[in-house]
Amino acid sequence: MSDKTRSDSSTINPMTQAFLKDVLTGFSKTPKSLPPKWFYDDIGAKLFEDICELPEYYLTRTERKILESAAAEIVAALGEDTVLVEFGSGSMSKVRIILDQFTTPKEFVAVDISVEQLAEAAKEIESAYPGLRVFSIAADFTQPFDLPADLDASLRRCVFFPGSTIGNFNPQDAKALLAHMRTAAGPKGRLLIGFDLKKDAAVLEAAYDDAAGVTAAFNKNVLARINRELGGDVNLDAFEHVAFYNDADGRIEMHLKSVGTQSCSIDGHTFHFTDGESIHTENSYKYAIREFEQLAATAGFGLAETWTDSDGKFALLLFDVTNTG
Ligand code: TRP
Repeated sequence: MSDKTRSDSSTINPMTQAFLKDVLTGFSKTPKSLPPKWFYDDIGAKLFEDICELPEYYLTRTERKILESAAAEIVAALGEDTVLVEFGSGSMSKVRIILDQFTTPKEFVAVDISVEQLAEAAKEIESAYPGLRVFSIAADFTQPFDLPADLDASLRRCVFFPGSTIGNFNPQDAKALLAHMRTAAGPKGRLLIGFDLKKDAAVLEAAYDDAAGVTAAFNKNVLARINRELGGDVNLDAFEHVAFYNDADGRIEMHLKSVGTQSCSIDGHTFHFTDGESIHTENSYKYAIREFEQLAATAGFGLAETWTDSDGKFALLLFDVTNTG
C-alpha cells in the first residue's frame, strides 16, 4: 500500500480498512476474487432475507420445516440446561423454533458481522422471550472471539450453525471453522448444523440464479459497497451475475463477470478487466451426509442425530464433542 493510500485510509474505521484490504488483495489476484463476508452490510442482509423467500431458493424453507418437525427431539437431546450459541445469527428467526421447545429458555448467544441487524434482532428476541438472557457479539465468526465471561457455567453449550453457511467455506476452511466451533462448544459441547445436500445441478443452479434477479442484486451489492464505502468507481452495469454447479468440486460458484473490457479505480489503485473476466465471489459446497460426517470428525465431532426432509434436499445434524483436543 502506498503512503498516499495509508494517509487516506487512516481515518476510516477498522471494518472499512479490512474491507479495503480484502478488495485490493482480491482484485490483485489471478483469477480475481472477493471474500463473501462483505456481502452482508445492512442492504446485503436485507437482500439475503429476500433470497430466502424466493421460490427457487428451497434451502431456508426446507431447513425451517426440518427444524419445526425436529425441534422437540432436538431439545430432548440437548436437555433444558443448554445455551445455544449461534454463529451468524442474522434475523434470529430459526433459533426461535428451538427456543420455543424449552420449558424455560435460559441463555442465547448471538454472533453476527452485521451490527445493525444484530442489535435489531437481539432486541426483538429479548422481548419475545422474557427471562432469556441474550448476549450479542458483533464479530466476524471466522476469526477467534471471546464468549461472554458471565455465561452460566453450569449450562452445556450447543453451537448452532444453520443455513448451510458451512457450505460457503472451502473444505480446509470449513475444518478450521468446525475446530473453532468445537472450542467454543467446550468439552461437553454440541453442534447443531444445517447443510445443503448434493442433488440435481439444475435445481441447484436455479436456487442461485433466480428469475427475479434478487441473487444477482445481492452479488452486485458487494461492488456497490466498494463504491459507497471505499469511494470506488466500479460500473455495476458492466458486470453480470453468473452461477453454476462445479461438479468436480461439489459446489455452486458465484461470479461477477465483466461485460466488455473495463477498468475501475479504488483508493488510488487501478484494476483492469478483460471481456468475460470474472470475480469469484462465493462458493456453496454441497455434501452427502457421509461426507459431512467425515469432515466434522476431523474437528472432533461425532454424529449423534440426523434429520432430513422427505425429499432429501437438506440435512440437519447434531454432533457431540468426541474429544477435548
Ligand atoms: N449459505 C447459503 C447458501 O450457500 C446462503 C448463501 C450464502 C447464499 N451466500 C449466498 C445464497 C449467495 C445465495 C447467494 O446457499
